Amino acid sequence: MIDLHSHLLPGVDDGSKSVRQSARVLRHFADRGVTHVACTPHLLASQVPAGFPPAYQQAWDALQPACPAEITLHRGVELMLDRPVPDEVAERRLTIAGSRYLLVEFARLVPAEIVARALSDVTDHGLIPVLAHPERYSSCSVDTVRSWRELGTIMQVDATTLTAESTRGERARDLVRGGLADILAGDNHGDERCIATALDWLTEQDGGDQAVMLLDTNPRAIIEDRTLYEVDPLPMARSIWRRMRNMLGNE
Ligand SMILES: [Fe+2]
Repeated sequence: MIDLHSHLLPGVDDGSKSVRQSARVLRHFADRGVTHVACTPHLLASQVPAGFPPAYQQAWDALQPACPAEITLHRGVELMLDRPVPDEVAERRLTIAGSRYLLVEFARLVPAEIVARALSDVTDHGLIPVLAHPERYSSCSVDTVRSWRELGTIMQVDATTLTAESTRGERARDLVRGGLADILAGDNHGDERCIATALDWLTEQDGGDQAVMLLDTNPRAIIEDRTLYEVDPLPMARSIWRRMRNMLGNE
């Protein structure tokens, strides 16, 4: 499995605080079958013109020797589009593993039209936006996500949110069930979150093929700067049956 969204560069954002903490998380990832991890610390678009933060490079250098041999680490950032996309993003220092794919996020209450405009800005710079956790935004719906995807955006749903009893969890499940998620990622902040949760959930939903696409094939295509595959919706018959059983209180 490949996880392209994590906050494991120690001490640079609200994620892991130390090399030791990151090493513990990466050990857990390796034990669950994760082979590639992108370190994507937060960065504001307004910070980009000042250059890549030196602290990120230092944290990257410090983390390398502590990474388990089973895992390959990759660079990247989670770019908060708090202002129009700066021209410097085209230099690819910020993209995932130096590919065309740029992980972006917005404030939670951002209107759908602002998201659409900013995503178009990213593609105008020759990059492919990967929208982090679309289910988190209040303007997220199946229809808005469909329109964002039509702009050429890749949807990264948070893996552990798939099991959450919340509106956000319901949105995440709707996106995966509808074939509108392109990859799953952990968004680990030095905690227990792991993409293996999604593997378990998808397996339970008869979504073995989707698990391979969302957790391996498509994230691998991003690292290798290739085009992603469309992911099939989850089999409906089983999920409707499960919902009926839930409604009847049998589960
Ligand atoms: Fe994140």
